[in-house]
Amino acid sequence: MRSGKSSIIDSFQIQEFFLDSVDNVALESKKVLSLSEFLQTLAMALAAKNIETWEHSVLVTTYAVMLGIQLGLSQEEIEQLRIGALLHDIGKIGIRDDILLKPWALTADEYVRIEKHPEIGARILEPSRALHSIIPIALHHHEHYNGKGYPQGLRGEKIPLAARIVSLADAFEAMTSGRLYRRAMTLEVALEEIQLQSGRQFDPYLGQTFVEMIKQEVSLKLGDK
Ligand SMILES: [Fe+2]
Repeated sequence: MRSGKSSIIDSFQIQEFFLDSVDNVALESKKVLSLSEFLQTLAMALAAKNIETWEHSVLVTTYAVMLGIQLGLSQEEIEQLRIGALLHDIGKIGIRDDILLKPWALTADEYVRIEKHPEIGARILEPSRALHSIIPIALHHHEHYNGKGYPQGLRGEKIPLAARIVSLADAFEAMTSGRLYRRAMTLEVALEEIQLQSGRQFDPYLGQTFVEMIKQEVSLKLGDK
């Protein structure tokens, strides 16, 4: 089995420390925590854990929102996509640094541990009802269209649309950015890889739309010069 509850934080135990009285105290002193403030706190925590994960998330968000706009999503869907993409890897806060920062190949056991980050992310977001709409992004951004991803092995359109979008943006950013252990791919090679993986790792329609969108963006930029 890929996951075991015992290895993942349990938000219900944490709730015991933050009873409703905390909300009342905050209201009385007129210091209500806004959603924007809370999101900034989560983002700061992720950046403090690992600045590269945060910088990666910012670029993933740019690509995901571009694709969302291209697909004609509503303003509300785009906003969910934006916040969900920024926090898609929030669960990496729960991964040990010696695994998260390892500059060479992971062992099978380390892979099992790092593959827990989507479930840890969902647990982190769970206590905030205002953030429930982005849990599917945190939980399912490593599912593959052919059902061979994780954590639940969801297939095709059973994977929420926003998670399919972030999955593509995530992979494209990872391919085109250098890492400690590998060089960045050229744009052409990364787009070929997305085409190759469309219908396997990625939703084929989204993959095609993404490739065309990036090519158009590049030709517009070249045309500017
Ligand atoms: Fe991830």
